[in-house]
Amino acid sequence: MNRLTTITLAVLLLAPLAAISGAAESPRSADESTTLKEAFQGHFLVGAAINRTHATGQSDSRRTAQQVEQEIALIKSQFNQITAENDMKWVNIHPREGVDGYEFAPADAFVAFGEKHGLQLVGHTLVWHNQTPDWVFAGTNPPPASANPSGKKEPGYMRPVYAGPRASRAELLERMREHIHTVVARYKGKVKVWDVVNEALDNGGPENLLRNSLWLQIIGPDYIAKAFQYAHEADPDAILRYNDYRLEDPVKVQKLVTLIKSLREQKVPIHAIGTQAHLNATTGTFEQIDRSLTEIAKLGLPIHITELDLKAAQGGRRSTGAEVAANAAATQGGLVADADERLTRAYEGVFRAIMKHRNSVKLVTFWGANDAVSWRRPGNPLLFDGNSQPKPAFKAVIRVATETPAKIN
Ligand code: XIL
Repeated sequence: MNRLTTITLAVLLLAPLAAISGAAESPRSADESTTLKEAFQGHFLVGAAINRTHATGQSDSRRTAQQVEQEIALIKSQFNQITAENDMKWVNIHPREGVDGYEFAPADAFVAFGEKHGLQLVGHTLVWHNQTPDWVFAGTNPPPASANPSGKKEPGYMRPVYAGPRASRAELLERMREHIHTVVARYKGKVKVWDVVNEALDNGGPENLLRNSLWLQIIGPDYIAKAFQYAHEADPDAILRYNDYRLEDPVKVQKLVTLIKSLREQKVPIHAIGTQAHLNATTGTFEQIDRSLTEIAKLGLPIHITELDLKAAQGGRRSTGAEVAANAAATQGGLVADADERLTRAYEGVFRAIMKHRNSVKLVTFWGANDAVSWRRPGNPLLFDGNSQPKPAFKAVIRVATETPAKIN
């Protein structure tokens, strides 16, 4: 490749990032047709997690061809970034051991979809305690007596933790290196951002920093640094992200600060912080998000809101009446209109906080295109309903973008 081509390519590839550096901050008027990506242009990219039906254009048992088509149209019109909701997770992309154990087709379809429609691609996720097949941790070393032999799920796990004989530290590090090198190299230059390590922080009191996962137990705390190092080797230009949830919790966000400071002191290549923001009535407020983003911003790294959704239900409350009809009409502890209103106000607060921190926030990704395909579907937690129609919360979010004065901080 000659120099000019290289420069042209670099300009093209960096263009979406330049667009979020804050050059064009003119307020826009919010009419019916303003889209999310237009409303926040000049501030940050706005994305959605997409699933296999969207990437391949093929319906499944849950969605008709017409619904899938509508969702694809929604993704193309509203968003300028996409994340693979499941298809780049270890269990899907590398279900069996060895170099022949990869299943790239769905992830390839995700990348092709993004390239075709000019959407920035985020890879999710390289190292996680969930959705990782047992073979990764298996070996010949007897598990310690402290391992959970009960076959019960542990908190934070989607299924029982692997309890059989284990790989050694060296074996597991080599599997992790081979996996990261293979996956990141395959999409080098296409997938611009990677969630390298997902959810490594412990959720309890301040005494434990890291989740007691098999990664931690078998490799030790340096598995995190190693994962970033391997990803950086495979694609030195990729933006490498540490991603975690419940960072609205003041104890947990301080654990994040401790972890990231320590990684940076060790010169670990980490370039952005992902805060998932799976929110609820308690956490989805201006104050909570402002406080959380203030703490994260002190690290001086770009912040990505990576998995935004908001279940505006009041803790566990259901319909107050006993009739079936009322219960059917009730969602999240009130009538549909009340729920919509709560969601609208909550999203407005969350986006006011995000806009307050727009010098740090470079990307906001919703965890799903619409309520029907959301992993929290009963909570109707997104801006578009099951038919891909905008809800009142959508308009409120657009309004926050257009009403925020150009340069306040
Ligand atoms: C979820 C997906 O949305 C579901 O379809 C899947 O069954 C489980 O995982 N944190 C993450 C995401 O980092 O990968 C999870 O996605 C949601 C919580």
